Amino acid sequence: MFVQARSHLHTVRDWLRFAASRFHEAGLAFGHGSTDAYDEAAYLILHALHLPPHRLEPYLDARLLPDEAERVADILERRVTLRLPAPYLTNEAWLQGHRFYVDDRVIVPRSFLAPLILERFEPWLARDVGHALDLCTGSGCLAVLLAQAFPQASVDAVDLSADALAVARRNVGDYGLERRIRLFEGDLFAPLGDRSYDLIVANPPYVDADSVAALPAEYLHEPPLALGSGQDGLDSTRAILRDAARHLNPSGLLAVEIGHNRDTLEAAFPHVAFDWPDVEGGEGTVFLLTREQLAAAGSA
Ligand SMILES: C[S@@+](CC[C@H](N)C(=O)[O-])C[C@H]1O[C@@H](n2cnc3c(N)ncnc32)[C@H](O)[C@@H]1O
Repeated sequence: MFVQARSHLHTVRDWLRFAASRFHEAGLAFGHGSTDAYDEAAYLILHALHLPPHRLEPYLDARLLPDEAERVADILERRVTLRLPAPYLTNEAWLQGHRFYVDDRVIVPRSFLAPLILERFEPWLARDVGHALDLCTGSGCLAVLLAQAFPQASVDAVDLSADALAVARRNVGDYGLERRIRLFEGDLFAPLGDRSYDLIVANPPYVDADSVAALPAEYLHEPPLALGSGQDGLDSTRAILRDAARHLNPSGLLAVEIGHNRDTLEAAFPHVAFDWPDVEGGEGTVFLLTREQLAAAGSA
């Protein structure tokens, strides 16, 4: 059908309709920056035409040159046949208006922590941030947002994956933040010695084993290390809770994303007074704890 499309479709509107039809027909899964077939088609078509991602309407009736139609057909066909997340086709992902380079060495950025970082964790953060830590940094997206939200802070960022850190290094360079963000390879707090921080954010792997087994094809292109974390999805979170207080300064804040595991976490840690901030589209997916709350729960 893509062969016919190359010779029969003319306008951006034609290609948009065709793409949405093929995406529905193929039963694609969305969730890597777009929420449905129309949004995903618009994003990919605009990208292939070297147009900004947020404005489609003025171009709907524009006719494509043969080379442009070829580029559009190619990216749409690869989305359908390879089931690749769109950001791996465009090598970019958008988080809170910030563009990050991505490829299949890192999970596609979509963290619910991002808006909280840009709002500087108000009103929960009760101290200035001179040193911040991003555990499980992946593409480095949250480390970059930390550096932007707290311009006086130095930021450390850790990942177990050397591949992920190579992508993070590129993003840190793209934002000109090499002097403010240090990258560490290793297991959670292990490469940090006795360093301590005013703010620790972590978006660790948190998908439980049953959900990992049922992931749509698109998610299987992402690094497995970025998704699964033991039977109940909380292995990494348990390790973070065990060690975080030793790396937090007085009044320091820990912010961890855990997906849909709130009930399991609260059952496992009944004495911990987790705070659950309102997060747009992700209610109950992020918890906050001060160093004092961690200490009171016996985790210091
Ligand atoms: C859910 S991804 C988050 C990436 C990024 N912070 C974001 O929000 O897009 C989890 C990341 O944790 C890393 N990771 C998994 N286990 C780890 C460990 N024990 N220590 C450090 N990093 C780990 C993975 O390589 C992956 O990059």
